[in-house]
Amino acid sequence: MPALRRSVAIGVISAAAVAAAPLASAIAASPATAATAKTSSASANAPKYPKDSLRELGQKVGLRIGAALNPDLLGTDAAYTKIAKQQFSTVTPENVMKWEVVEPAKGTYDWSGGDKLVDFAHANHQRVRGHNLVWHSQLPKWLTPDGFTTTYSSAQLKAILKKHVQDEARHFKGKIWQWDVVNEAFNDDGTPREDIWYKAYGNLDYIADAFTWAHQADPKALLFYNDYNIEFTGPKSNAVYSLVKKLKARGVPIQGVGFQTHLDTQYPYPDLRANLTRFAALGVYVAETEVDVRTFTKPDAMNTPVDGVHESAQVAYWSRTIQDCLSVKACISYTPWGFGDAYSWVPGVFAGEGAALLYDEQLQPKQAYTVIQQDLELADGATHRSHSQD
Ligand code: G3I
Repeated sequence: MPALRRSVAIGVISAAAVAAAPLASAIAASPATAATAKTSSASANAPKYPKDSLRELGQKVGLRIGAALNPDLLGTDAAYTKIAKQQFSTVTPENVMKWEVVEPAKGTYDWSGGDKLVDFAHANHQRVRGHNLVWHSQLPKWLTPDGFTTTYSSAQLKAILKKHVQDEARHFKGKIWQWDVVNEAFNDDGTPREDIWYKAYGNLDYIADAFTWAHQADPKALLFYNDYNIEFTGPKSNAVYSLVKKLKARGVPIQGVGFQTHLDTQYPYPDLRANLTRFAALGVYVAETEVDVRTFTKPDAMNTPVDGVHESAQVAYWSRTIQDCLSVKACISYTPWGFGDAYSWVPGVFAGEGAALLYDEQLQPKQAYTVIQQDLELADGATHRSHSQD
């Protein structure tokens, strides 16, 4: 991923705002997925999760609270597994449904990680956000040895893309609530990312194709476009807005937009609520799909904020992310990108930054966790998102 936004600011704690905006009338009734059906029939005997868990608090307003997970830790790390079960009502594979993992050699599939995650989710009454079908990154070496170039022709690449989208969507058919069909197709200046897919087509038409193919393969999954740095109004968010508007006008089956929400306390808090609201008005669901809030950390402690000011800013940012989702009825899920600082991607990519998640390196809940709990408790009066809990 290229560097995320650079500018300066430290956050300020804001009061919980829980007013709910009306859902865009254009949103069609949510299709009942097979996963939904399984969840419904099981709900009568559903196990009880802690009343103050994020999943139970979110359920009161129909908001699914999720986390990106690493299936290798499920069943092998007891503390991790317990939190994954008890706290979340939707899960996302952090890596195991990506192309390089599912098809390491051409024509040879490895669904084991994805299957394990889906089975875990089913056993624990959780929905799955599939991540992802089309992306420029984490592609297999046989397709692009360096991540930028390929020896396949345009016609071959289109056929390869169609096969991948349909094979994966078919494999998980009926088990995925939301698919991130296309991930990160734009640069920060709003121009199309010139990856192998864009170059094969000479334009962005691969996006419409991917949504159409995914819909053919799994008609009941909600299909999302997912990106970072679209939380604030600017060229990139405007470009994605135009794309979604055009896709909707053409009748392309797109039902949602994912706002990754990788935030950093050194930048101003984005006008996320305004962007969630304007996208929802296009007649799509919205979701916060990869939330984390990084800050500067002590040189000798990768995940300890450098001081209390930075730590307070993080807590404030977390609170605002959940409040923004709660305030927009079309915001149907809220997913942090993992939950333990020891497993976060952040320190490995942003030198000197970290402490980006809700639990510390020992999997103890941080102040940011408590504030999310409080915001959900206070959100009792927010408009119910009925489709996501049925
Ligand atoms: O699996 C290999 C392992 O075999 C090898 O030994 C090891 C050596 O480095 O690498 C392992 O792969 C790593 C992979 O995660 C699985 O752990 C890659 O190096 C590493 O680059 C990869 O990072 C992932 C990153 O996407 C790749 O771009 C992060 O875990 C993951 O959190 C991150 O997630 C992305 C979302 O998909 C899209 N939005 C941004 C987000 C953060 O970058």
